[in-house]
Amino acid sequence: MLKLTAVPNRELDLEHVWHQNVQHRGLESRPPLEIESAEGCYIQDAEGRRYLDAMAGLFCVNVGYGRREIAEAVAEQMTRLPYYPLTQSHGPGARLAARLAEMMPKGLSRAYFLNSGSEAVETALKMARQYGRQRHAGQNRYKIIARHRGYHGFTMGALSATGQILRKQAVEPLVPGFFHVPPPDPYRCGFCRREGACSLACAEEIDRVIRMEGPETVAAVIAEPVIGGGGIFPAPEGYLERLREICDRHGALLILDEVITGFGRTGRLFGFEHSAACPDILTLAKGITSAYLPLAAVVATERVFQGFHGDPDSEVKFTQVSTFGGHPASCAAALANLDILTRERLWENSARMGDYLLERLRALDSPRIGEVRGRGLLIGLEIVSDRHDRSPLPEAQMVRLQLAIRDAGVIVGRNNDTVPGYCNVLILSPPLILSREEADTIVSAIVAGLEALGGGETGLQ
Ligand SMILES: Cc1ncc(COP(=O)(O)O)c(C=O)c1O
Repeated sequence: MLKLTAVPNRELDLEHVWHQNVQHRGLESRPPLEIESAEGCYIQDAEGRRYLDAMAGLFCVNVGYGRREIAEAVAEQMTRLPYYPLTQSHGPGARLAARLAEMMPKGLSRAYFLNSGSEAVETALKMARQYGRQRHAGQNRYKIIARHRGYHGFTMGALSATGQILRKQAVEPLVPGFFHVPPPDPYRCGFCRREGACSLACAEEIDRVIRMEGPETVAAVIAEPVIGGGGIFPAPEGYLERLREICDRHGALLILDEVITGFGRTGRLFGFEHSAACPDILTLAKGITSAYLPLAAVVATERVFQGFHGDPDSEVKFTQVSTFGGHPASCAAALANLDILTRERLWENSARMGDYLLERLRALDSPRIGEVRGRGLLIGLEIVSDRHDRSPLPEAQMVRLQLAIRDAGVIVGRNNDTVPGYCNVLILSPPLILSREEADTIVSAIVAGLEALGGGETGLQ
């Protein structure tokens, strides 16, 4: 122990930590940032350098860093009751489930708690399969329709729903029964180009696949209201409503994955609130605690929940157990976090600052920016080699760009390891407390990064 304390963290890390999605060869010359502390929108590394965290960690620190009231709520809960499983009941779990129901449209009233977004998606998929079979006697409803470029998690089911081959190919084959259709992507959409404007043909593709596969075999359609890590693709107007109609027509459930878009990220409390559509099952994580502790939830409608009601000895209940799902300390963190989110109405700042950032970024005159798109504080910049033929900037240059922006003091994301040839989207997802000055800092760092990359001046307006 004494021996270990004398060794710098960095050496211990390089010797013993297996990092997420990182090629370790070469880390000696470019080690990961060792983040030591954080406050507001800023993080600070072990060498005292400050960065504006325009990714809110991994799309999750919605209320910003350094909120003592969350830490205090957790400490109080851990002293009173550090753990009990939700096979029984505890106050923070009950209060959080009720709080979520209160925030949702009527009907979305049952919460099942887990630890991560992947687990929430995994659970939603299992619920949909079991529900389909129990609700439609004699049918084997197991197929799931998802979209290319969407991300739903790293576990086998959630990864099967994910439409990013670079995240999947090393571990295939995955779970059978998953089908993918094109996402809404007006910048590169083959359908729209033919028709001159968005006709929601990509949504109709879901209807076509369900009919071809046989509706009596389809359990659910899963979609993110805005594809996040896959490259920021907001659902266009009318898209989610069309998905709702298609699901209703074929007796399939609509699962909306709001692991990123939930809790104010898109400028409304939930991403689906930009539409008139309401899901049957909603998956939530990240912003539910602003990542102060791990927690996720599947929220189902009362109708779906009733599909699992039966006699005590019948087999229709949902049999899954999660040891840590709904941990009382995590639920206490979530309750304190949601108090802050609603007291400060942070979705409104997300809408305001999102519009401001979109406006400023769209005004940049750079030969490298093909498109700027987003909703609220979830924004993507499609970076291209050539604006006319829209060819994506090669990944090696995207890495250089991202590092140059970091050198200018701002952490931005990138849709790395998603689909071949199109890992060219810079991603912004800052804390929802972002100020105008901080938004300007992000824009200036992006301009500095583009200038460092070369290939043409970036005009600032
Ligand atoms: C839309 C979506 N679903 C699911 C997940 C998986 O969440 P987690 O990393 O907490 O397992 C993510 C993660 O980024 C996500 O963006």
